Amino acid sequence: MFLARCSPGYLLGSICVVILSFLTFTGLLYLLYITYIRLKYAHMPGPKYGSFLFGNLTEVRRGTADGKVFGMIVLEWSQKHGKVISCAILHLNIIIILDPVAIKHLLVTKNSPKGAVPYDTLSVMHGERFFGHGLVSERRNKKWAERRSLMNPTFRRRFLKLSMDQFNSSVDLLITKLRKKADGKSIVSMSEEFLRLGIDIIAKVAFGTDLNVMFEVENPFVDASKLAFSAVLRSMRYPLDNYNPCSRKFRQEVRAAVRFLRQTGRDVVEKRLAARLNGEEVREDDMLGYWLKASDYLKNPEFQMEDVLDEFVTIFLAGYETTANAAAAMLMELVRNQDILNRVRSEIQHVVCGRTEVKFEDLANLTYMSQVFKETLRVYPIAPSLTRHLKKEETVVGVRIPGNSYISVDLYSLGRQDEYFEDPHTFNPDRFSNAESIVPYTYMPFSLGPRNCIGQNFAQIETKVLFAKLLPLFDFTWVPGQSYDIVDMGTLHLKDGCQNYITLR
Ligand code: HEM
Repeated sequence: MFLARCSPGYLLGSICVVILSFLTFTGLLYLLYITYIRLKYAHMPGPKYGSFLFGNLTEVRRGTADGKVFGMIVLEWSQKHGKVISCAILHLNIIIILDPVAIKHLLVTKNSPKGAVPYDTLSVMHGERFFGHGLVSERRNKKWAERRSLMNPTFRRRFLKLSMDQFNSSVDLLITKLRKKADGKSIVSMSEEFLRLGIDIIAKVAFGTDLNVMFEVENPFVDASKLAFSAVLRSMRYPLDNYNPCSRKFRQEVRAAVRFLRQTGRDVVEKRLAARLNGEEVREDDMLGYWLKASDYLKNPEFQMEDVLDEFVTIFLAGYETTANAAAAMLMELVRNQDILNRVRSEIQHVVCGRTEVKFEDLANLTYMSQVFKETLRVYPIAPSLTRHLKKEETVVGVRIPGNSYISVDLYSLGRQDEYFEDPHTFNPDRFSNAESIVPYTYMPFSLGPRNCIGQNFAQIETKVLFAKLLPLFDFTWVPGQSYDIVDMGTLHLKDGCQNYITLR
């Protein structure tokens, strides 16, 4: 009755007043919250805020626009403010830890749990279950520990040893492909080649399946995983974009990509379960086979189909990209440092003796190659930061960190501290010739403590088989004009994709 009597102008005016009042009220609440956060961390060392509202966001944005990765900015901060510092991105304060005593305490002794940022973004992407409760994103330590103990045996060296043929034959596929491109004229992005190799190896070694990624230029699995990765980064960098109506189509595509990745896993698992029901002999010597057997073929309530799919997505996405980017960075450094390359080659010649197959026993003897790999990960820690949540207030190395804080170990700047690494900007694998000379808790590209990387043996085997087979066969020439820069896409990548001309030796 009342509404019926109101003029449209009056109604519109009233709606505007309500909306404006609501926005002013929310804005005031946000300002109050920011003030509370700024006061909470006011006592901590760290860079000055560029603005009260944005904190250090503008400086970080300016730095990344100039081609810096976050770790480079942290390195500058640490030189001025020390090794436990606070920085703010809007209302989120992050405590960056670069001190080995603090790292040991928070990461290893205390095993501080993972926080909602960034792991919940991985768990569910735009409403679609993505990593779910897989190993990387599970935040409940008890649940995680059960799952980890189920999966641990399949990542031990003696289990992976059973798959040496597979590691070798996947690299053989890459060699076949590269032979066709080894004309000294074609530009080959080795980052892309290593990404595809990484997927092929995980598909076969972990899940006994072939996703045809090596030769298919347009491959739906490759495209879906790249899109899902880009969405994780976008969602973390621009959280408001998650609500932006203009990005609806992108979100729909991401949801479809995530569904596709999980469906691929479902098809693999269902095929194996069906074969077993039909009385066929099914593999129990690959990872999937072992997990299915250990969970009594999904009768364990803690390991049902959706749980297997969480691990399918987790192992793929945590495993292929990291190893591939590390291999690309290692190749870049080898191409840049011919003396190091020659030493690696003569070690391969000595250990593998011209055989076409790399044996498990060879791996331990490729010691100089191990040092090169370690040095690569010091300079290019592919997963560049480890984020944890500190529930209760703690004083570490004399600095009081308030409760309910996000802490982050920044591996990029940690590896460049001259207090821990002599001449840190020089690529020098010899610094790893004597393990004793590395200051404990300053080198951890696979993280440390209970939540360290389950796939580190896997990554080492893949890298060693790869280089032991590639380097004797091919010469790589860096395509001029491209940079040696890295970009932070959540993981570190070579900016220009490690483009090389290839020739047969
Ligand atoms: C050079 C290659 C690799 C690097 C640098 C790397 C690095 C890391 C780091 C730093 C973490 C800790 C992440 C965190 O605290 O949030 C991690 C965890 C993990 N990585 Fe890797 N990784 C590599 C290869 C692999 C491979 C090949 C796989 C699997 C085949 C894998 C699977 C995982 C999983 C499942 C976790 C979570 C472990 C847990 O919390 O129990 N990674 N990795």
